[in-house]
Amino acid sequence: EGFLPFEHEPYFNFGLDAVAGRQRDAYRMVREKYLGRAFPMYLGGKAVEGTATFEVHNPADTREVVWRFPKATPEQLEEAIGGAKAAFEEWRFSDPMQRATIFKRAADLLRARRLEFNAVMGLENGKNWAEADGEIAECVDHFEVFAREALKWAQGKPVYPMPDEHVTMVYEPIGVVAVISPWNFPAAIPLGMALGAIAAGNTVVWKPASETPLSSLLLVELLYEAGLPRNVIQFVTGTDDVLGDPLVDHRDIRMIAFTGSKEIGCRIMERAAKVQPGQKWLKRVMAEMGGKDPTVVCADADLDDAARGIVQAAFGYAGQKCSACSRVIAEASVYDELLDRVVTLARELKVGSPEENAPLGPVIHEGSAARIMDYVEKGKGTARLVLGGERAGSGEREGGYIAPTIFADVDPRDPLFQEEIFGPVLSFTKARDWRHAIDLANDSEYGLTAAFYSRDPQKINEARRLIHAGNLYVNRKCTGALSGTHAFGGYGMSGTNAKVGGPDYLFWFLQTKTVAQKY
Ligand code: SER
Repeated sequence: EGFLPFEHEPYFNFGLDAVAGRQRDAYRMVREKYLGRAFPMYLGGKAVEGTATFEVHNPADTREVVWRFPKATPEQLEEAIGGAKAAFEEWRFSDPMQRATIFKRAADLLRARRLEFNAVMGLENGKNWAEADGEIAECVDHFEVFAREALKWAQGKPVYPMPDEHVTMVYEPIGVVAVISPWNFPAAIPLGMALGAIAAGNTVVWKPASETPLSSLLLVELLYEAGLPRNVIQFVTGTDDVLGDPLVDHRDIRMIAFTGSKEIGCRIMERAAKVQPGQKWLKRVMAEMGGKDPTVVCADADLDDAARGIVQAAFGYAGQKCSACSRVIAEASVYDELLDRVVTLARELKVGSPEENAPLGPVIHEGSAARIMDYVEKGKGTARLVLGGERAGSGEREGGYIAPTIFADVDPRDPLFQEEIFGPVLSFTKARDWRHAIDLANDSEYGLTAAFYSRDPQKINEARRLIHAGNLYVNRKCTGALSGTHAFGGYGMSGTNAKVGGPDYLFWFLQTKTVAQKY
């Protein structure tokens, strides 16, 4: 299957002064090179400036406009979809080896520019150095993984033979895929979906989140530079009234690959079910949505280890990950001690600017901060606040800074326990015993990630069997899935369980043809 062996891209060690210095240099370079610029969309392979534009703000200080992007018009959306449809007629017959080679080249190009990409992302979505680095390293992994997957699926699969027929089963691409992606992983998430589509031989209309378009655009340009025929990705930016429903509803869209909120995912699913006049297929929808991810801690667990994992998973990137730990469920006998250790670690997290690599940065914008604080204020009346519970200052900066917040004794019916808050807010709930803890972990409409801490093989076996989650992590934190290894995607209302980065992911973007030929 070519290109072996595979190794995950190693992270930078920002603890080394020299490496930290290089990341600071990259920030300076990005500010010089990109700040204040107006960036294009790509339609039909050509860079297109818009007459109207929108501003992208730095979450670390929302007064700062970092760059601008065009607002696509309905005609430009038509052009994008038409371009992708035309490009499909060639790209669907492209050599999988060509696709794989482009991805390999893109991996090398990205390796040389990782610190720059980190800085762009920091300025757009407020990730600190390590969080951005984890995501850009994941992009390198995606290129490497999808190069291999393109070749793997090109081989078809064997069928049981017949004496008098020659029978093959092969996989073919399906058409134009709309990629609609969120701001919290503005590089790795849309890239995973787009590479899935392209590796399979489809073409893409890529609509990045409006908060974070440059992290996406740089990847598209990188793919062009690596040799991807430009028509294969149409890159459109703008507002949801033009690019939301109209893109999903369009009769020439064959599939929607979406990652984002449950509300939007359900809306896409519903709209895509309607067959439009002239539409010749049933649309396929990949919708990866939210999580309310539990960490279960048994009485026999290594409590220090669990506390560290919980704090990283709950407060990394201010809890703005679908994979974030938002519920801790601990056995009664260790509940108080664990809570104590988690509070101690969380209290040490300094709130500040991601550009200066503060452990806890701002949430994406004021609207999000207000929504999170609404949960927090209500929570004060229903649960026991043990840490935070307030907006945090970050010097002169204006941004959605929220202190790490922990509620204890949260009732399973409380919105704190049931609803995705998407901020630095963690709830603790006491379980009678470890079986009860598993039941509480499963008391959710979601089922994305879960962590389970115990040293007892029998308990671990039960957890493996019973926990309702697409990604279960035993004795480690529940964030940070690695492409190629931790196929990622949830159960229940967490979505369609597409498992990006896994061995079956490309099947989502393919249809299967059986050819039986008489001798
Ligand atoms: N893949 C990310 C993680 O595992 C979330 O999207 O944390």
